[in-house]
Amino acid sequence: MTVLAATDLHRSYALDGAAVPALRGVSLQLKAGDFVAVTGPSGCGKSTLLQLCGAMDRADAGTLHLDGRDVTALTDAELTRLRRDRIGFVFQFFNLLPTLSLLENIALPLLLARRPESEAFAAARALADRVGIGHRLRHYPAQVSGGEAQRAALARAVVHRPVLLIADEPTGSLDSENGRTVLELLGELNREFGVAILLATHDAGVAASAGRQVRMKDGRIV
Ligand SMILES: Nc1ncnc2c1ncn2[C@@H]1O[C@H](COP(=O)(O)OP(=O)(O)OP(=O)(O)O)[C@@H](O)[C@H]1O
Ligand SMILES: [Mg+2]
Repeated sequence: MTVLAATDLHRSYALDGAAVPALRGVSLQLKAGDFVAVTGPSGCGKSTLLQLCGAMDRADAGTLHLDGRDVTALTDAELTRLRRDRIGFVFQFFNLLPTLSLLENIALPLLLARRPESEAFAAARALADRVGIGHRLRHYPAQVSGGEAQRAALARAVVHRPVLLIADEPTGSLDSENGRTVLELLGELNREFGVAILLATHDAGVAASAGRQVRMKDGRIV
């Protein structure tokens, strides 16, 4: 099944009255269970592409289908629901909510989807154990290490069983050992849950662990 089908995506940013082109016609397809790494120099458009593919932003031109739905035809509310229910996110700086415990952070996607608290917390606990942070659930994000925070973010990203996981430099702020752990977990979640992963990285070693690599330059795939 095709999870993501992007065709000829364009996106420019407006800055001081001028248009800064970030994507100049990118096409990409991911099927269920694919693990794709996007590489390329700083400023080539990796994060812009991931934001579009995660339904966090809209393209200026081109078409995008996510989980079988034509994103360009969705209202903002429908886009928000698609993002909440079908997509998971991992970022370089974790983006955990500082006022919630790790348990609450991990359960959040299920709570936002109005699932019963008992079910949401049970699922969060099980995934926390799976990624090795079951003993840190009462801690707040400021009270855990970077590696633990990113493992919590990974658990949060898949707790609602998304079809697509967007990971922008997920190892970029971790030391090499923690980076390796997070990368291994990504691969395991990819295989166990069949979640498709679209990951951006500068690091050739990180990219090598993906099933497929896509290289970008100046807003295009090369
Ligand atoms: N909000 C913005 N306003 C103006 N220009 C922007 C904005 N966001 C990104 N850009 C520009 O768009 C281009 C692509 O940026 P993007 O963040 O997608 O690159 P990237 O490949 O993720 O880079 P990095 O590896 O440094 O994270 C860059 O030239 C950048 O300067
Ligand atoms: Mg980036």
